[in-house]
Amino acid sequence: MTAIVNDQVDEKKRRWLIVTTSAAGAAAAAGVAGPFLMSWFPSARALAAGAPVEVPIDKLELGQQITVEWRGKPIWVLRRTKEMLDGLEKVDPVLVDPESKASEQPTYVSGRARSIKPEYFICEGVCTHLGCSPTLKKEIGAASDMGADWPGGYYCPCHNSRFDLAARVFKGSPAPANLKIPPHRYQTDAVVVIGEDTKGA
Ligand code: FES
Repeated sequence: MTAIVNDQVDEKKRRWLIVTTSAAGAAAAAGVAGPFLMSWFPSARALAAGAPVEVPIDKLELGQQITVEWRGKPIWVLRRTKEMLDGLEKVDPVLVDPESKASEQPTYVSGRARSIKPEYFICEGVCTHLGCSPTLKKEIGAASDMGADWPGGYYCPCHNSRFDLAARVFKGSPAPANLKIPPHRYQTDAVVVIGEDTKGA
């Protein structure tokens, strides 16, 4: 079972932080609640092997990002505002790979929003340079500490790579490619499954 870290609270942390409950804790919870939960919770071993992770998104507020763990990596789920989405087109000219042709993502994720549902952005929070985890810098322009022309995005503090709000890398960054998008599917409007898609990835 994976707990979620609210990036709005921990935004200043450079490294990603995942809180994973112990297998004993999950088993204890399942034991109290009955055999259904015992079969529903993925075991610690299954999680380590890459079992899919169900993420509830119905409580996510506009502009909020949460982080979950999948295969030992931080996975972001960002609920983008209309302003965030509208800004994606403006930065195309200053991106390395605006159409993500050379970047790793499932075929069902296309367009500059790089998502199945534009409002929800799901991405591996691992820099394509040397593997640090970038920080969400969602404030735009003068409200940002990234400079007056900052369009909102992600910043990797290790060697100053910058990405937009679809994790597309800006020219001049050491990162060679956009951040990866993991396989995922929507189980319902309220739950997205990371690590699994309709092809059973
Ligand atoms: S690891 Fe991100 S810029 Fe180097």
